[in-house]
Amino acid sequence: MAGLNPEQRLAVETTEGPVLVLAGAGTGKTRVLTTRLAHILATGKARPWELLVVTFTNKAAREMRERITHLIGPSAEGLRWLGTFHSVAAQILRRHAELVGLKSSFTILDMDDQERVLKQLLEAANIDTKRWTPRSLSGMIDHWKNRGWTPDTLPAGEDFANGKGKGLYAAYQARLVSLNACDFGDLLLHNLTILGKNPAWPRTIGGGSNTSWWTSIRTPTWPSTCGCGCCRPPPATSAASAMTTSPSMAGAAPRWTTSSASSGISRARR
Ligand SMILES: Nc1ncnc2c1ncn2[C@@H]1O[C@H](COP(=O)(O)OP(=O)(O)OP(=O)(O)O)[C@@H](O)[C@H]1O
Ligand SMILES: [Mg+2]
Repeated sequence: MAGLNPEQRLAVETTEGPVLVLAGAGTGKTRVLTTRLAHILATGKARPWELLVVTFTNKAAREMRERITHLIGPSAEGLRWLGTFHSVAAQILRRHAELVGLKSSFTILDMDDQERVLKQLLEAANIDTKRWTPRSLSGMIDHWKNRGWTPDTLPAGEDFANGKGKGLYAAYQARLVSLNACDFGDLLLHNLTILGKNPAWPRTIGGGSNTSWWTSIRTPTWPSTCGCGCCRPPPATSAASAMTTSPSMAGAAPRWTTSSASSGISRARR
């Protein structure tokens, strides 16, 4: 704590409710996140495996783990829910795969596998794969998944190959289930479906690319009834107050803002 400026300290000490930290490159955002984690652990508000810590990239996840380990020592190994959105989503999906028709041993298809499956489906539907390529269909499906749309919820205006989009998407999803497989986009989409299937898990879903998953995480609403003992869920958060402050770090021009929106850390309920 000693090395933090007042705004950073405020963000670290605000442990009830969401906190949004907006600050420029290299100005100490990660220091806030890692210190906030250490503070939550040191004050006994949560144990390492009750913290959900998500990043966009593997590099950022590695950096977070290293820096938290530096702060709290070996107990950082208990941070089992620290990773990228996709890796955390994959772990959750392994535990609840049956809710989306998969077995926990499912495989994750790479782009080539995905296009191979799509090519077969396009050919089976007598669609010219030169004009309507597997790659373009793959891109389209990825776009739909990033918006949280399943074949059933695909908006009417969304299409591929003159009216065949929805059917192809449904056939692709069915094929993946028969292969006990999913693609990268499914990691997030299936998590939304799993949350949606459990009425005890209220949530807000919305937004564009990948933000539906983000929204579901930042909305403090995971199940209180999940018995798996690991995706023990967040946070009955109370509304946090918004605070806007000025920069005070040496050499750091950007404005520091801490407000009540989201952070990369959710504290799980005991
Ligand atoms: N209040 C502070 N006083 C002095 N040094 C600080 C302070 N906050 C952060 N630093 C140092 O500034 C450097 C950058 O911090 P940090 O990596 O947390 O920034 P960041 O905003 O996450 O950067 P990036 O945009 O690259 O992700 C680190 O060496 C960190 O220890
Ligand atoms: Mg950083």
